[in-house]
Amino acid sequence: MVTRRRALAVGVAAGSTALTGAGLIPLANAANRAASDAPGTATADTAGAGTATVAKFAVPMPVPPVLAPTYTVGSASVYHVTMKKVRKEILPGLPTDVLTYNGHFPGPTIRARRGGPVVIRQRNTLDMPTAVHLHGAAVHPVNDGHPMDTIAPGAERLYFYPNQQPHAPLWYHDHAHHMEAEHVYRGLSGSYLLTDDTESALPLPGGRYEVVIALRDARFDDTGGLVYAMGDRTRTTLLANGVPYPYFQVAARKYRLRLLNSANVRSFDLRLADGGAFQQIGSDGGLLTAPYTTDRVFLSAGERADIVVDFSRYPVGSSVVLRNAAGPGTPEQTGEVLRFDIVRTAADPSSVPARLRTLPDRPEPTAGRTVDLSMTEDGSTPPAAYIDGKVYDPGRVDAAVTYGAHEVWTVTNSNRVAAHNFHLHLVQFRVLERGGLPPSPAESGLKDTVFLAPGETVKLQASFDTYRGDFPYHCHMLDHSAMGMMATMRIG
Ligand code: C2O
Ligand code: CU
Ligand code: CU
Repeated sequence: MVTRRRALAVGVAAGSTALTGAGLIPLANAANRAASDAPGTATADTAGAGTATVAKFAVPMPVPPVLAPTYTVGSASVYHVTMKKVRKEILPGLPTDVLTYNGHFPGPTIRARRGGPVVIRQRNTLDMPTAVHLHGAAVHPVNDGHPMDTIAPGAERLYFYPNQQPHAPLWYHDHAHHMEAEHVYRGLSGSYLLTDDTESALPLPGGRYEVVIALRDARFDDTGGLVYAMGDRTRTTLLANGVPYPYFQVAARKYRLRLLNSANVRSFDLRLADGGAFQQIGSDGGLLTAPYTTDRVFLSAGERADIVVDFSRYPVGSSVVLRNAAGPGTPEQTGEVLRFDIVRTAADPSSVPARLRTLPDRPEPTAGRTVDLSMTEDGSTPPAAYIDGKVYDPGRVDAAVTYGAHEVWTVTNSNRVAAHNFHLHLVQFRVLERGGLPPSPAESGLKDTVFLAPGETVKLQASFDTYRGDFPYHCHMLDHSAMGMMATMRIG
């Protein structure tokens, strides 16, 4: 079936230069080895190296299914999820073992509404402990998926999500101590879209015109297996909703794209190939106060952006590629993410209002602290990674926060080469300053994860007035957190 037809697109290339020229791109393995050993000779050296290739824009982009509750009780929804290993055909004709929630790669989307609690029974049929964290959510610490609070192989447990916070594009992913990076890499992540009356009253594109797009990278071996190595810079095959370089058929109208960077380390710097403008309407913690017209969205690992793209400016029959300018990878490998194909017209009653929401007031800060992120840059593999000079110890409290405090955190990336980012569990914060300047419109709303270029300092403000207890904060480049760039705040 499809397998046969697509099998043409993959192969053990005797001359990958020719294939590359024909729109096939070599998978990471051999091509990158050549690239790092001998810059400039990447394509000349791959012959005979057993390099699989993958065709661009040859498969449709799936949209993760919305999970149906197993049952409801009043406004509460109960879901049953099984973590299991399944075999998928991600590369044409080759099998890939992935770790999934309910067999989906990425996981199914959960839709929740403010005031409607969600209970998820998570059953772990994997051979490793897991912990499920709802990223961006205000939850009691027993439901946070703390790295040490794991579900043993064969066991199950309930997670309770009160959904009392405002709307936000949350996401769920594994958080088992020291294994979160590999588990997420192998597939354990999914979207959790929390809505509320503020958001659903707006005439934004919805239904089939509201599309989750989870972006990530991967490295495959020649048999289709996902290769995981901590700190690997050769994950240069890009996946959108779990498939490589797909096309997505759209109508010539507005779409709301709910972008998630679910990669372990990679940032995405996204633009439409024609330089066309779109509107960013939201970020990690939900809608911005007003739409922001831009031609670019930058997402470090774990960050989300809601954008509205109006495809009505493109003729039916035309296409526009979503490009990425962030490395690692050659432009051929990572310069293009997916292609939107404009295939039909459609009525479009949607619009983007000039005012989207009111943000909560920012109270007078009551305390401040600094956080320093660093990792060794002397070539040791894997590097050691620190917060305030210390490797993560789940038994240590690193920051004592007074319940009810409004704190300003000054976070610095003291590396010269490595980028990091910074994620606080439990809270949505405001970015006050980046490098001494006010944040861009893209960072002017609520955030839970913020990028830090080498040497950069970001000031943010958060209120700790929901739950008491121990919560992690960490670099969300998950290879780094698994190396130790994580710490604990105790709110009490
Ligand atoms: Cu996505 Cu500890 O977080
Ligand atoms: Cu989190
Ligand atoms: Cu980092």
